Amino acid sequence: MQQLANEVRKLRAKFILSESEMIDTAKKFQRAMQAGREGKDSSLKMLPAFLAKPIGNEKGVYLAVDLGGTNVRVMIIELKGNGNYKILDRHAFPLKNSQKGHDFTSETSSAAALFGYIAERIKSMVATNSFYPLGFTFSFPSRQTAVNQAVLIKWTKEIKTPGVEGKDVSKILAGALDDKNLHQVVPRAIINDTVGTLLTASYRDPFTDIGSICGTGHNSCYVEPQSLTSGEIINMESGNFNALPFTAYDTELDKQSDIPGEQCLEKMVSGKYIGELTRIILQDFIKQNLILTNNQSDIFFSPYMIKAEDISLFLDDESSELTGIFQWLQSVCGASGALLEERITLRTIASIVVTRSAQLVAASYFGVLQHIDPRLERKHSIAIDGSLYEFTPGYAAKLKVTLNNLLKEKSELVTLKLTKDGSGVGAAVAAALGDKGQLHD
Ligand code: GLC
Repeated sequence: MQQLANEVRKLRAKFILSESEMIDTAKKFQRAMQAGREGKDSSLKMLPAFLAKPIGNEKGVYLAVDLGGTNVRVMIIELKGNGNYKILDRHAFPLKNSQKGHDFTSETSSAAALFGYIAERIKSMVATNSFYPLGFTFSFPSRQTAVNQAVLIKWTKEIKTPGVEGKDVSKILAGALDDKNLHQVVPRAIINDTVGTLLTASYRDPFTDIGSICGTGHNSCYVEPQSLTSGEIINMESGNFNALPFTAYDTELDKQSDIPGEQCLEKMVSGKYIGELTRIILQDFIKQNLILTNNQSDIFFSPYMIKAEDISLFLDDESSELTGIFQWLQSVCGASGALLEERITLRTIASIVVTRSAQLVAASYFGVLQHIDPRLERKHSIAIDGSLYEFTPGYAAKLKVTLNNLLKEKSELVTLKLTKDGSGVGAAVAAALGDKGQLHD
């Protein structure tokens, strides 16, 4: 057990960043933002959203469609003005459903099948005699040429549907709506989910100038103070940032992923990957005979078998004997006699992975804040949506404390805000901005 304790110590030293490493990462992030803005070589795509922030008085009933990594969510939202809104109807439809036998995210699906499914789901929710301006949240790196045109650069989050990369997704959606005779649904705006989150929060709070998703994927956008059209929102696609302190475990995860060498920050922080990273570490510990000796459960030896939900379960177990983890090991992995030390190790590894995630995200926010307000003289709200931030035990607090430590005496100027339904409500706000013609195109 002494050896196990030593290996855990070494793991912590490799993963956990010192304050100066975080500041260094933030500086590199800031430089990558600048380079991306100037069209130089950069891992940050810095994609203009062709939108500025709302005023807060936008009104009307809008249809919002939100295509993330797992579900397509359809909402009917009434914007009431003065920053208020009401969700009139909402449904989430899984993109993958083994019982119904569909998986619109796989390489055997197609653009027509995926967007046909979305149109069909919209049809199940709208009336024939009403008019619906549509805001479409498409949470993948897309190059926009106008508020309602977006070409998918590349799928992320391990989505593989053929026939979408390199295409204008708003056109594919419009075609699918036409095929279903949904002429009352009129696409007005297409946005990234980070932009939706920023729009939703800034509809209420004018100090919001960063929007971020910490969920299945990770990415942030911000309001660029120096753009030609002042106040333009820029989707950084920060999940692709790559000037990072990689460990051998990160390299292994990257190698066996769909897009090696890309989405490096996302692979170190987001909900899609924190379970996998934990699994790769555990697999190594098992192979070295440090824990769960001879346990050959698939969970530890097959990619993506440990999920973000499992990580939450480990971190949520605060019982002195770690009974939740004991039961998990027993029922999921068939490991009946796991020792307390082994259970503690499982929890510690998950906690190390999650802590580093919060540190890297905090460093990226610090980099953005220094770009938009170098002397930190103003108030800033960072709007955050996503399951990692909302549900991982301790994550939100870790992120806040880490950012506060970097901000030092300026920490009171910066607020982190959970912005639930940000990507959906933001689509309605974007459609309203489209309606009012407040666009930068
Ligand atoms: C991935 C996508 C990005 C999205 C993020 C969060 O990083 O590339 O567009 O914002 O996931 O969903």
